[in-house]
Amino acid sequence: FLKDETEVWSQNAWDHVPPPEDQAESIAASLARQRQAPVPEAEKIKYNQKPAKHWDNFYKTNADNFFRNRKWLHLEFPELLAVAEPEAGAITLCEIGCGAGNAAFPLLSANKNPNLTIRAYDFSSHAVKVVQNNPMYTSPPVGSIQAAVWDLSSLESLPPGVEAGSVDIVILVFVLSALHPDEWGKAVANIHKMLKPGGLVLFRDYGRYDLTQLRFKSGRLLDDNFYIRGDKTRVYFFEIDVHPNLLHPLAHCPPHPLFAIEQLGIDRRLLVNRKRQLKMYRVWMQGKFRKQE
Ligand SMILES: C[S@@+](CC[C@H](N)C(=O)[O-])C[C@H]1O[C@@H](n2cnc3c(N)ncnc32)[C@H](O)[C@@H]1O
Repeated sequence: FLKDETEVWSQNAWDHVPPPEDQAESIAASLARQRQAPVPEAEKIKYNQKPAKHWDNFYKTNADNFFRNRKWLHLEFPELLAVAEPEAGAITLCEIGCGAGNAAFPLLSANKNPNLTIRAYDFSSHAVKVVQNNPMYTSPPVGSIQAAVWDLSSLESLPPGVEAGSVDIVILVFVLSALHPDEWGKAVANIHKMLKPGGLVLFRDYGRYDLTQLRFKSGRLLDDNFYIRGDKTRVYFFEIDVHPNLLHPLAHCPPHPLFAIEQLGIDRRLLVNRKRQLKMYRVWMQGKFRKQE
């Protein structure tokens, strides 16, 4: 923790650092620049049409070399430690938007529960292939893992092999931000359907005015707080007030609230580049949501 500002260059990172004093001005300047030149309407439609294709290209280029292993996941969510205990019993854990398996494989390698099943889904078939080609996929030390292609925003069906009301924990790490806000309703309905009553959603994603949001240049703004990256993947930046599209997902869903909020907070970290004397203010959202009995 940074207690004395003069110490800032002595470490690479500081936890829970409040935003800098001039943040209001830098936010205003970034948003003004971005709003001056948003993505043209005709292109917006194009970018929102085939998002899986762009993520496929991403994994063709990066395979499993882009995202770091999410080794911190069980520290942030101790529930993941509990289900990995040898005697925890039959548990189904579903990771959606699993990418190259940067969360699933660290969980699997730390697992001591022979009855833990990890189901990993992504709508990019390339990402799923990367997961399936991991040596741990075919011979996990303890427990099992199955990966398949599935679109979280699909209305047709739950993922292959997943019955309604059968999942204990759903992990969503940097995935809802990749969906268009209009797709969140279907996503929430799907997650709600697959979970057991009392089942848990573990959520971590980009937070409002994260450094990466403020850095977007002109020609990238798709909608409020929603951007297209250079590689054509989309990203939304969440705030603490739950977006109405998430609160009232779908007309055919059971009445609100579908979930009880057990935890919802902003995680701020100051990353420091000591050589270039740069301060980078990162912002993430983290939440735990329990399906109502
Ligand atoms: C930012 S990456 C995060 C990957 C992984 N969760 C991690 O933290 O390393 C977002 C992932 O979500 C996947 N994704 C985006 N939209 C999706 C959807 N509608 N259904 C399933 N997966 C989706 C992308 O293919 C990509 O792998």
